[in-house]
Amino acid sequence: MDTDTFYVDEDVGRDDDSATGSEAAPYKSLLFAMVQHPKATYKTRKSETAPADASADPASRLEWKPAAKSALKKATNLYEQHRKKQAKAAELAIREQQEAERRKRVLEEAKKVVIEEDPSLPAPVKIKLNTVDPAKIKLGTADSKGTRVRVVGRVHHLRSQKDIIFITLKDGKGLMQCLFSGNLIKTYAAMTLTLETSLEIRGELKSLPPGAHAPLDRELHADFFTVIGTAVGDKEAITNKVQEDGDVQKLLDNRHLTLRGDISSSVMKVRAAVEMAFIKTYEEVEFTKVSPPAMVQTQVEGGATLFEFNYYGEKAYLTQSSQLYLETCLPGLGDVYCIEKSFRAEKSLTRRHLSEYTHVEAELDFITFDDLLNHIEHMVCRVIEITLSDPVVAKYIYDLNPDFKPPSRPFKRMKYSEAITWLVEHEIPNEEGKPHTFGDDIAEAAERRMTDILNVPIFLTHFPTEIKAFYMQKDPSDPRVTESVDVLMPGVGEIVGGSMRIWDYEELIAAYKREGIDPEPYYWYTDQRRYGTTPHGGYGLGLERFLAWMCGRWTVRECCLYPRFAYRCKP
Ligand code: 4AD
Repeated sequence: MDTDTFYVDEDVGRDDDSATGSEAAPYKSLLFAMVQHPKATYKTRKSETAPADASADPASRLEWKPAAKSALKKATNLYEQHRKKQAKAAELAIREQQEAERRKRVLEEAKKVVIEEDPSLPAPVKIKLNTVDPAKIKLGTADSKGTRVRVVGRVHHLRSQKDIIFITLKDGKGLMQCLFSGNLIKTYAAMTLTLETSLEIRGELKSLPPGAHAPLDRELHADFFTVIGTAVGDKEAITNKVQEDGDVQKLLDNRHLTLRGDISSSVMKVRAAVEMAFIKTYEEVEFTKVSPPAMVQTQVEGGATLFEFNYYGEKAYLTQSSQLYLETCLPGLGDVYCIEKSFRAEKSLTRRHLSEYTHVEAELDFITFDDLLNHIEHMVCRVIEITLSDPVVAKYIYDLNPDFKPPSRPFKRMKYSEAITWLVEHEIPNEEGKPHTFGDDIAEAAERRMTDILNVPIFLTHFPTEIKAFYMQKDPSDPRVTESVDVLMPGVGEIVGGSMRIWDYEELIAAYKREGIDPEPYYWYTDQRRYGTTPHGGYGLGLERFLAWMCGRWTVRECCLYPRFAYRCKP
């Protein structure tokens, strides 16, 4: 082989280590040949593809010809570009190497910088990041000193400038802007600070310079700090593990880290406030709180969603609802409520179904169906009112859901039969794609569309007996239907299910029979009808669904700490 000549076969050549550029092992492209052997002679051919002139002798295709001028020019241009790119990359690599070495030296130097607290400074006052009490703290201004304080928290945001590091510290209750300058930023700890690192910071609280913005309009000018626990950085940094629009499964696996973020922690704070508002409202209407068992041997809402387990050799279930137990509390305690977990083995993965959810349930004695509806309306409105009366919580809600509007009373009331007519008129089909007829269970999609179109809370009432649970009281004026209610909210659909309960002994026995339920395990529930029975009713509200509606969340999974749904039980 002529040592200065290299061969390119555009059909069978290879642009990799298996090619040498010889006739026997040609390259595939002229550019690759040039990169391997600049300034050589190149011969090319297309051994298999028919030339444009199809009548040409096939043997001529196997002949090596000097590379065409135009092809050479094009390849030379590309080669020049390639060379420039390589030169740039090499330069960058050198610079990076130099920078890494410089940073290493700087960090080694930084290790020698030791900061000490100035003993002449006033002793710091320990405060929380949301403390605003003027009896405790004063903000410094251009001509007055502020209180020297001591705070603890984790790094939420971090921004380094030449002579200053801005840190937003968080402690779960509030945020505080802290400024590091002078010797503080020369320390190894400051130079390698990562998000989520926990710190104690001491310094003077000052008001902000004009035009600046920071939480509670103040900032801490640090004079001393200590790292309590560093957070891992680089590839393992929290921002690499959980990203707002990241893979959903990864976010769920890292729920323990997601919960540190603004959105998840705000939802959890609203949740805490809403739960307290329920407790307060029940206190106002004089309901007694009880705590029924989670391990039971009876079903409430049908066998299909029961979680079964072995209870010392006997069959038992995780409760689907505390309703039956609440009913037994009425004679001894009067109106009662509970906020407990309910469990449903829901195999379908919808955005509003959990396997474990928080159920706010209440039972009311000596009432009519109308009393029940009025009570539910009062509860929903009063809980929202109390929740929004805390400006901190209200801000979380409006940050999460800028369009949130407290519902106005009275809620729209619509009978099931009217909803069926509405769905037919609006051409919203049932699950089989056919027009709805009386007796259909209105499926999630249809219910959601109706609620979204009407765009107001709806009391959907009087469902047919066959599609509702065994315990529901029939409407005395139309025994085809029950005195039942679902509360539907725009964006989420059903958030409450309730009804009057069968209170006649014989009727309950007939209902067990109709549903194929063995009455024996229910003896304690049936006894209610034997020892001074009363017209009574109640409801259950899914706390996560209520929150999804209030906080404008896509799914109930975002509204509980560690969601449990089909096939997920970790972390
Ligand atoms: O309509 P449900 O099944 O009614 C009952 O359990 C009654 N025994 C309650 C009672 O009268 N005390 O459930 C009530 C509410 C629903 O409206 C919904 O908000 C919520 O509980 N819910 C769920 N939330 C999340 N995931 C699930 N799988 C849920 N199933 C019901």
